[in-house]
Amino acid sequence: MNPPLPIDGVLPPDLQGTLVRIGPGAGGGVLGAGGGAGGGAGAEDDEGSVATPSGALHAIELRDGAAVSYVTAPSSADANVFWQAGKVLALAESGLPQQFSRLLQPEEFDGGLRVPVASHVHRDSVTGGRILFGVEQGTETASPFLRIGEWDAAGALTHRMEVQLERATWQHDLGVTARHIAFIESPTEFADFFADEGSRQPAIPYRWTPGAEGWVGVLERDGDGSDVRWVRVDPCLVTHVLHAYEEDDGAGGAMVLYVCRYEVPEKGQPIDLDVPVVDGLGIGMSLIDGGLPVLERWRITGDKLERSQVDERLVEYVTSDPLCEGRPFRYGYGVEVAPNWDRSVDREVDHLGLLRFDVARDEVQAWNPGQYRTASEPLFVRAEDGRSDDEGWLLTVVYDATRGASDIYVLDASSFGRKPQAVIHLPESVALPFRSHGTWISADRYR
Ligand SMILES: [Fe+2]
Repeated sequence: MNPPLPIDGVLPPDLQGTLVRIGPGAGGGVLGAGGGAGGGAGAEDDEGSVATPSGALHAIELRDGAAVSYVTAPSSADANVFWQAGKVLALAESGLPQQFSRLLQPEEFDGGLRVPVASHVHRDSVTGGRILFGVEQGTETASPFLRIGEWDAAGALTHRMEVQLERATWQHDLGVTARHIAFIESPTEFADFFADEGSRQPAIPYRWTPGAEGWVGVLERDGDGSDVRWVRVDPCLVTHVLHAYEEDDGAGGAMVLYVCRYEVPEKGQPIDLDVPVVDGLGIGMSLIDGGLPVLERWRITGDKLERSQVDERLVEYVTSDPLCEGRPFRYGYGVEVAPNWDRSVDREVDHLGLLRFDVARDEVQAWNPGQYRTASEPLFVRAEDGRSDDEGWLLTVVYDATRGASDIYVLDASSFGRKPQAVIHLPESVALPFRSHGTWISADRYR
């Protein structure tokens, strides 16, 4: 344990908790891919069970206005991390969780899960439970299916269902509301890329399926998976779902999703089927002209889906107030991105800064960390006296190339765009990954 970290500004005293970030480890490089946009350069097999760590976890504990500790640990998972029932659980793109203590001591995973899950795990903001999912590719005799499970707040598996799929599509995230789940089928399919050579599969082993249709499947959370409501959507690819909720709390009203929507190859467009959808350059970058996503609002009523673009800026790593998850919200946050055309640099996407979306007015504000600085996924923490989903703090890891190290920026979400409330300096040469994801563990959820 090292001494408190130096801070510029004043750390809000109500920020009591631990920030955990995950991403590629030292070998993967801070500019490497690892889940989410441009993800997939991790060294896991598709079960996430190899022993060689390719990822790293980082935890910074904030207490009484000070950053009291920074710890790091290697992890064989590198795509996402969450806190449930007193455990840090790290996930690969697909696999079993790797378990750690809050301050990153490795533990045996005891979550009672025996099947791989995808890296995005939603929290029910009312019950404290978790919604897990994974796509099984199927076999010669069994068709592919989507598996969904729910944990209660204590981490016990309380519900499960399966949905038969025509083909195994790449599904990175879901929309979850109080009563429903929406999953998104893109023109992609599982592919065994290196069957002949016996080489390792890419972490995201999916290729385009030109001409395939786009569908959203809507499920009742308490159903058995046989009651899918299929809703047609223009073919596209969704990586991250910013937020999902139901108007009038699901009593027959519309389901609303906010998604990062990528363009996909058009019908007839020549496609190299030997190239994964997510390759070293990013998601479809080599195929669809550096396409990056915009934020869209999808309003689903019955079997109809209405799309509208919230803003034309390109955005990834989108988040919202966890206290609103599955319920109505007003503010979303994300990283403004741009394609990097400089192929001499091993980086597929530039991070321009952060965005705050006011979805009630479709207004967007931007914040830029300054030259030579790269911001990452903003995590919102509601202030102690905060009454809405912009009254709180945004925590973002900013890589500062001038000193080759990272800082944690604390921004006031209600006066977004102004200078940071506080900047926590990590030790020299400590560079946290700024791809992938992180989580905030509020001290009142410690065990
Ligand atoms: Fe992700």
